[in-house]
Amino acid sequence: MVTILFAIAAYLIGSISFAVVVSKLFGLSDPRTYGSRNPGATNVLRSGNKAAAVLTLIGDGFKGWLAVWLAQRYGPQFGMEDGGIALVAIAVFLGHLWPVYFRFVGGKGVATALGVLLGINPWLGLATLVTWLVVAYAFRYSSLAALIAAIFAPFYSGLLFGVDATFFAVLAMSVLLVYRHRQNIANLMAGKEGRLGSKKK
Ligand code: G3P
Repeated sequence: MVTILFAIAAYLIGSISFAVVVSKLFGLSDPRTYGSRNPGATNVLRSGNKAAAVLTLIGDGFKGWLAVWLAQRYGPQFGMEDGGIALVAIAVFLGHLWPVYFRFVGGKGVATALGVLLGINPWLGLATLVTWLVVAYAFRYSSLAALIAAIFAPFYSGLLFGVDATFFAVLAMSVLLVYRHRQNIANLMAGKEGRLGSKKK
């Protein structure tokens, strides 16, 4: 029961779209109306406002981290175990993808997944972040970096903790993240994907 309550709270936290909120605060266009139309940091960057993009990244990452941290910090007092924390991790991620406040039209989950991974374990988060950075630096595609990082993340989790509840939570997030990047994958294969930081269309 307590796990369900934590998971609902995590879903509600995850449903806050920082791309939409930050863009509104900065007086920018709604990110769902330009570029890839994705409410995420990469697309906010296409507005040309780097500060708004960075704040979106931090906000979406922070909510993932916060949900996991709350579950780890207070969950065990109510008998919550690793499986419950893994469920909370998935719930905050699902909130970002299908947010209750935005008619269930959310983002692709990259920043939130990173926050979740950092919350689960800093080394897991850092290894995944470094993977993202290396691919992004080498190829200048945010989506490609996210896809490769998503493929590696379950391996990192398995290496660090073995095949446990965390592993399956990370794997589920990776599968959903790849699924949400279907259009990016098609664009990459067609050579039509915009490079990181290119302006909006
Ligand atoms: O963070 C999402 C990124 O991987 C792709 O974003 O806007 O290029 O579809 P976007």
